[in-house]
This record gives sequence, structure tokens and C-alpha cells, in this order.
Amino acid sequence: MLHGKRLLITGVVNTESIAFAAAERAQLAGAEIVLTSFDRDMEKTREAARMLPRAADVLELDATRPDHHDRLAGELRERWGRLDGALHAVAFAPRDALAGDFTAARPESAGTAFQTSAVSLSHLARVVGDLAPPEGAGLVALDFDAGGRAWPVYNWMGVAKAALQAVAKYLARDLGPRGVRVNLVAAGPLHTRAAGGIPDFQRLLDAFETTAPLGWDPGDPGPVADAVCFLLSDGARAISGEVLHVDGGFHAMAAPLREPGEAVREQPAVHEQQV
Ligand SMILES: NC(=O)c1ccc[n+]([C@@H]2O[C@H](COP(=O)([O-])OP(=O)(O)OC[C@H]3O[C@@H](n4cnc5c(N)ncnc54)[C@H](O)[C@@H]3O)[C@@H](O)[C@H]2O)c1
Repeated sequence: MLHGKRLLITGVVNTESIAFAAAERAQLAGAEIVLTSFDRDMEKTREAARMLPRAADVLELDATRPDHHDRLAGELRERWGRLDGALHAVAFAPRDALAGDFTAARPESAGTAFQTSAVSLSHLARVVGDLAPPEGAGLVALDFDAGGRAWPVYNWMGVAKAALQAVAKYLARDLGPRGVRVNLVAAGPLHTRAAGGIPDFQRLLDAFETTAPLGWDPGDPGPVADAVCFLLSDGARAISGEVLHVDGGFHAMAAPLREPGEAVREQPAVHEQQV
């Protein structure tokens, strides 16, 4: 599906990262990849990069720094001369912006969440736009579907993710003429380091346990990684500005379907009930 594609994958810090699963599947689907990392996470990312099916190089990129993106674009131009796609899998908010009293978060914390988790997509889009080959390229970012509603926790990160959805649509508008597609994958909650930093993350897991019609396994980033690979592939060549939910169907339900702990059960078909 990704044979011959040259892809940039951000956001791998360890083998539990969603981006690690995406990098792994992208390689297995035939892509050549490079990872990025920053500052304190660089060594951890290098360690994870060695665990991929084919060890990948790690370039430095602080997602909040436009100058880092300029340098990255230069490095990729030298290495490949083009870029067929990128995954944005970067988010961060200080703890006071993630839970508790929404109004008590420091404005700087809200600003950090916004810069790191939403504005950074536009920096990365510039890199993809500059290096996209004539046949086009794909840019995918990871969302937690916070566009239109409030969660029990998540607070200013929810606001940042709402902004991410808007940023993606403006980028789809501006990069479309260059053949660059910009899409989001809205994933259900997964056990990663970032998730571990969200106080009371369990409340999100509980909501998915009772409400996702397909069920939801928070230990398996595979379905999200598969959707990322699809959106980076030529199969998605006419898709842009989209939010693809990979959440077991959670987003389409209006209320819980099960009690906590109750198994996901198939209802008997109507014609079976009638006989
Ligand atoms: N885990 C979930 O439940 C879940 C659900 C939906 C969406 N997401 C999103 O998936 C993405 C990846 O997160 P994850 O859950 O795999 O966690 P993770 O902790 O594995 O990845 C987060 C990454 O962000 C990077 N990062 C943070 N600040 C950075 C900066 N300034 N510059 C460059 N990199 C920086 C970290 O190095 C790390 O690699 C995030 O956007 C997250 O919001 C996660």
C-alpha cells in the first residue's frame, strides 16, 4: 500500500507510541521512513527506532520551533529530494491544563497546549508542502475527538484538539492546490505515555467501554495505525479535510449501550426474534 513512499513520522517516544505502530505498519507496507524527536526524548526515540522492522534514523524536531522545521526540510531535501507524507503525532499540555478546575489553568499552560498540539501542524504542513512531489502527498494528524464537546477531563487539551481540527481544514484548503491532502484520525483512548499524563484517564476508558458498539481495546494502537497508513496511501488520493474516527463507533452513539464490565454482545437479528 505504501511501496516506494518516503514518509516522516513524528511522535515516537517508545514502542507504545501510536506513531510507533504507524511507523511499523508503514514499513511493512513498503515505505521508507524517518522519525523525529526532540530534546529530552531523543535517546528514547532512538531506542524505539531500533525496534522497528528496519531501524530508522531519528532527526531532531521540536514541534513548536519553526526554525527546526526549516532545518528538517533541508535535511529531507538532501536525503530524499521529496516527501510523500508525514504523520503529526505530537501533543503536550502541562498538568494544570489537563484536568481539575478549567478556569484555574495558567494561561501559559493553555498556550503551550495550543502551540504544541495544534499550531505545530501548520509548521509541519509547510515542510510537506515544500517537498511534495507533483503527484501529491499526505499529511495526517492524530486527534482525540474533542471538536464539539466537553469531556470529563482533557480540559485545555480538548480545546487544543478542537483547534487542531480547524487548523487541518485551513491547511486542506491551502495545500490542496499543491496536491497535499490533510486529514485527521480521531482515535479512541490508548495506553501511551501521553495518556498516562492525563489525570483520571480511566474516566475516558470507562466511557468507551460502555459506549463503543464495536468495543474498544485501549492496548491496541493497530487499528489507528492502519487508518493512518490508508490516509497516507494513494487509496486516499481524493480525501482531504476529513476526520476519520477510529474509535469502535463511539462517536456515533448518543448514550451508553452497556453496563461497565458487561461484555460486548451481538443482538439477535430481527428475523430470528420473529421465528
Ligand atoms: N493515547 C491516546 O489515548 C490518544 C488518543 C487520541 C489521540 N492521541 C494523540 O496521539 C498523538 C500521539 O500521542 P501518544 O498517545 O502516542 O503518546 P506518546 O507519549 O507516545 O507521544 C507523544 C509524543 O509527543 C512528543 N512531543 C511532545 N512535545 C513535543 C515537542 N515540543 N516537539 C516534538 N515532539 C513533542 C513526545 O516526544 C512524544 O513522542 C498525540 O497527538 C495525542 O494527542 C492520543
